[in-house]
Amino acid sequence: MKFTYYGHACFAVQAGGKNLLFDPFISPNPLARKIEIKNVAADFILVSHGHGDHIADLVDIANRTGATVIAPFEVGSWFEGKGVKNVQSMNHGGAAKMDFGRVKLTSAIHSSSMPDGSYGGNPCGFVVESADGNFYYSGDTALTFDMKLVGEGTKLRFAVFPIGDFFTMGIDDALRAAEFAAANKFVGVHYDTFPPIKLDRAGAMKAARAAGKELLLPAIGETLDI
Ligand code: NI
Ligand code: MN
Repeated sequence: MKFTYYGHACFAVQAGGKNLLFDPFISPNPLARKIEIKNVAADFILVSHGHGDHIADLVDIANRTGATVIAPFEVGSWFEGKGVKNVQSMNHGGAAKMDFGRVKLTSAIHSSSMPDGSYGGNPCGFVVESADGNFYYSGDTALTFDMKLVGEGTKLRFAVFPIGDFFTMGIDDALRAAEFAAANKFVGVHYDTFPPIKLDRAGAMKAARAAGKELLLPAIGETLDI
């Protein structure tokens, strides 16, 4: 499977022949200046919650690509109100078959409000199943025992966890999350973008090695075979 990192918690995965883009936040990110938004492909855009650092470029990319937006109910409804055409507003525990395979919304411990202050429902993560393999993106979250349910229910090829601390899990809890979800390999996201989430990269790699987990930290713009 191909994984492309666009900075912060924004990434794309090719699964089931489709481009799945997650939490589009590129143009306001000074670390992602070299990414040309007009070249970002998306058949589906999956949004974990309403915070600006996960949705800033959604309307632009959805309008250009015609991608289907998959989001927690209140977030999806808000984007419909902004004129986004193809929206699947789901809720936690719910799964749906899509062109790429299957998606299920998982719980996340965080908060969610829209940039204009509208109610954003509860934040979520996603389990994506496809013929190419399965993966789990936790979204912004604390460590939670619910992650064990993901590992019990789905054999994962990889996971994607926030590791920047302060607003979400830090590396130590992300390593426990990987254990809970039975993922030996995970991509770290949600770090370095803002001063409080600056990552000690060498320390994180060392902690991952000590825990027997493979931590992937692609450069912004880099595509991994995963
Ligand atoms: Ni957030
Ligand atoms: Mn965030």
